[in-house]
Amino acid sequence: MGHDKLQPLRSKGLKTKVLLKNESIRRFVPDTQKFTKENLRSMINRYEMVYVKPDRGTYGKGVIKAEMENSRYFAYQINQKRLTFNHFDAFYTSLARLIQKRSYLIQKGIHLLKHNNRRFDIRVMVQLSPDNQWEATGVIGRLGHPKKIVTNYHSGGKPMDVHTLLKSHVSASRREALIQEMKGLGLRIARHMKKSYPYLRQIGVDIGLDRSLTPWIIEVNVKPDPYIFNQLPDKKMYRKVIRYYRLGMKKQK
Ligand SMILES: Nc1ncnc2c1ncn2[C@@H]1O[C@H](COP(=O)(O)OP(=O)(O)O)[C@@H](O)[C@H]1O
Ligand SMILES: [Mg+2]
Repeated sequence: MGHDKLQPLRSKGLKTKVLLKNESIRRFVPDTQKFTKENLRSMINRYEMVYVKPDRGTYGKGVIKAEMENSRYFAYQINQKRLTFNHFDAFYTSLARLIQKRSYLIQKGIHLLKHNNRRFDIRVMVQLSPDNQWEATGVIGRLGHPKKIVTNYHSGGKPMDVHTLLKSHVSASRREALIQEMKGLGLRIARHMKKSYPYLRQIGVDIGLDRSLTPWIIEVNVKPDPYIFNQLPDKKMYRKVIRYYRLGMKKQK
């Protein structure tokens, strides 16, 4: 079954490597490295804020936001717990204890746009149509729980209409262009990944927007949940997403 052929794509590290091979995609990929003491030191010095996350995570589980403040102290947050440290060594030791022997990545932190003081990111759904053309079938915003550092639905995030979320950040005319830009990026990612993984029939791209409105690729999901689109009052998007999703399930067998 096609399903098993996509198994390697559970690794965020591998997916990042694949994305970096494409010239028109790589500039939207935030710097991502393996979790090691030296990588943590250099990345936190360079970016001041980074995300530390499991190479094979889902649902926002185990995701940590780590930062250096005023080059003086270090802090990290996981779930609703935040710890601060006066020295890099103690900071690293605490993180390493949390992570243990698991494989983790460090990624440049994106300062996500906020709505009502809650972070949000964007999920772009890209699927093969009945006549096997890639289509960006859905775009939805995910508003994080106010006390959490992830936006995932399974971690208390709220799926929302993307226009509502972007309204206070982008004028109406630019909003449409930005949404088209994110859809275009999703389509390029799908076409590019399909070359190495011909069983791919759909992807869900998590896109983080910062204040400059750069669409940063946070991760590419190869088994995206179609049902979050059913959380919107307007069912138009959901109907198409679910139709293509069921078709994909059938063809995959
Ligand atoms: N580099 C980052 N910058 C800002 N937010 C991030 C970053 N990485 C992850 N996040 C937040 O954490 C969430 C979960 O991370 P993600 O990489 O998508 O892992 P998962 O597979 O658990 O969904 C993202 O949707 C986003 O809200
Ligand atoms: Mg995700």
